[in-house]
Amino acid sequence: MSVLNDCRIISLPKIQDPRGNLSFIETGRSLPFVMQRAYWIYDVPGGEIRGGHAYRDLQEFFIALSGSFDVVLDDGKGHKTVSLNRSYFGLYVPSMIWRHLENFATNSVCLIIASLPYSKEDYIRDYESYLEAIRRTD
Ligand code: TYD
Repeated sequence: MSVLNDCRIISLPKIQDPRGNLSFIETGRSLPFVMQRAYWIYDVPGGEIRGGHAYRDLQEFFIALSGSFDVVLDDGKGHKTVSLNRSYFGLYVPSMIWRHLENFATNSVCLIIASLPYSKEDYIRDYESYLEAIRRTD
């Protein structure tokens, strides 16, 4: 079972250049999983919250490609907030961590690299069900 300490910031390569900086992610490098999907969240109206669920199997990596936002993490025993505001590092979140995204600055873009294709069945959307699932595996 994953705990908050398993969630961690991972630095990405940063190629500094007077023409503009460049960072990248390659399969088998930087991330502790093989990427199978990318999606992004953008045009978030002020005050809106995304997420609010856990995944049974999915691992994710969040990057603030532009702007800033907070990722609020909860393992059923405690919670912590991680602010992302640079495009040369991101936050790794393993499966079975409850999370939501909040506090988006105007024009922020959140890129999410995911370990699996989209699956509706992988979501746990009810917090009580999440706590129950954790209790079963404790
Ligand atoms: P969802 O993950 O529920 O958004 P949030 O992060 O706010 O919880 O996704 C919103 C909708 O987008 C949902 O109907 C499913 C769809 N979706 C896909 O079709 N593919 C994807 O890769 C993702 C992440 C979402």
